[in-house]
Amino acid sequence: MKFFVDTAEVAEIKDLAASGLLDGVTTNPSLILKSGRPMLEVIQEICALVPGPVSAETVATDHKTMLEEGRKLAKLAKNIAVKVPLTPDGLKTCKALTSEGTMVNVTLCFSSAQALLAAKAGATFISPFVGRIDDNGHDGMALIEEIMTIYRQYPHFKTEVLVASIRHTQHVVRAAKLGAHVATLPPNVLRALFKHVLTDMGLKAFLDDWAKTGQSIL
Ligand code: G3P
Repeated sequence: MKFFVDTAEVAEIKDLAASGLLDGVTTNPSLILKSGRPMLEVIQEICALVPGPVSAETVATDHKTMLEEGRKLAKLAKNIAVKVPLTPDGLKTCKALTSEGTMVNVTLCFSSAQALLAAKAGATFISPFVGRIDDNGHDGMALIEEIMTIYRQYPHFKTEVLVASIRHTQHVVRAAKLGAHVATLPPNVLRALFKHVLTDMGLKAFLDDWAKTGQSIL
């Protein structure tokens, strides 16, 4: 399973990339706003830090302008995945960019029917938003299960399921159990994956005992 980080904070990305756990990055207009930085500049910086796919989102809603935006974003770096919304114009743009050899991440997916359309349009990634589905009283992970089941029926589909809008570690664990290809994690969730109270307690006990030996390794 690949781990992407869902942020446009360069310092966070640098730190997480050093752990060797990062396979890519996803951003969106809200995350760019949060970073307070010019989008094109920040995306270029991220692309230089992480060799894997870096999602940069288009903001036009019509196909023609969206395609122009996508082409401009794709020129920023080789590892750009252009993000387009799951709309008729978005999927048309997905098809065009894919045929030009650009990776495309189809975003704002909330149903398995939409995921089917994205795969048919040749999307590199489909991004179902599990947290927002949960927030609305439904089961986001049930959607991942359904999409994985559908995609498995058609081995010629190359689209990878990128679980997005992750809120906690159990979303990640459940996504892994379902065989989802990618999870994009907010930095706090990625860090939370390390945590276990027994690890902390066990480490403390070992270090206390080690101190009592009076020895040192170095
Ligand atoms: O980038 C898409 C996605 O991960 C958004 O997450 O937390 O805004 O629902 P969130």
